[in-house]
Amino acid sequence: MRVRQIAGIALYLGLANAQEASWRSPVNVLSRKGLVADQISTIWWFLFSTASLVFLVVITLLLIALFKKGQAVPKGPVQENSSVRPILYLGTGLTIIVLLITAVYTFISMRTLAAPSQKPALTFEIVGKQWWWDIRYEGESISANELHIPSGEPVHFSLHSDNVIHSFWLPDLAGKRDLIPGHPNSLWLQADEPGTYRGSCAEFCGVQHGKMNFTVIAEPRAAFETWLEHARAEANAAVSEEARVGQAIFMQQGCAGCHSIRGTAAQGEIGPELTHLSSRLTLAAANIPNTTGHLAAWIVDSQSIKPGNRMPSQKLSGEDLQFLLSYLMELN
Ligand code: CUA
Repeated sequence: MRVRQIAGIALYLGLANAQEASWRSPVNVLSRKGLVADQISTIWWFLFSTASLVFLVVITLLLIALFKKGQAVPKGPVQENSSVRPILYLGTGLTIIVLLITAVYTFISMRTLAAPSQKPALTFEIVGKQWWWDIRYEGESISANELHIPSGEPVHFSLHSDNVIHSFWLPDLAGKRDLIPGHPNSLWLQADEPGTYRGSCAEFCGVQHGKMNFTVIAEPRAAFETWLEHARAEANAAVSEEARVGQAIFMQQGCAGCHSIRGTAAQGEIGPELTHLSSRLTLAAANIPNTTGHLAAWIVDSQSIKPGNRMPSQKLSGEDLQFLLSYLMELN
């Protein structure tokens, strides 16, 4: 069997197993899993209830008016009917009151959402690419499409794009915020509890917009700091003989022209950085689980998995592919 077929089968089996994976779990825009989400959920329910109530009142009055037997309208010029006036004042007055209450409550919520009461201790820089997320910390790319945050405290995101407009959206934790070329944007959020949260791009940005996803893992502060330190560290040196051959293939095959692996000669900036690739949960912007089979499928046939993506499907012998996989799986 050809490498491509084997990879395809591995991909299929992996997808079947990954249905229940945490990074694929359903999202909920009305969840209350963090400070921001809680505020958004509260105002959503408030506006929804108010609008529903107004709708019911208006429809009831309309039905009453339709079915009530009234006086026939006299012919000739319309006469002002003084009994209608109080109803007009009441209707206008109630409308103004309801609109004022919702407007004031919306402004209060927007103020609360604008900045957290406690200044975030951490800022991640998120750069939207076509079609993946470059995760930076203090000016350096430390991950792609996956980041950890400490739970129970606000985290700040500085949002950038150097291509088209994207939108950073973690439905369970916060609202959408656009990444606009030439216009840095910012967002804060807080995950109250540890957990794995699914995010996606919420602004049409090209052919693979629908598969531009990411994963955020909230964990206690100590575990987060361990992750951050590890994420910022350089790559492990290739240990096994296969991995060393694989590293040479990586550098010669053109992979290094697009991808960077800190601590090696690979310094490409077009594709995601791969320094600790095998420690990530997913591949291809949170679309397939990170297993050897999926990685093989992605390398040899990425264009079938995400048609139009910027990574060309690679022509490699089965043997070379195995060496390359050995190297990449050692990047933990
Ligand atoms: Cu990026 Cu849609």
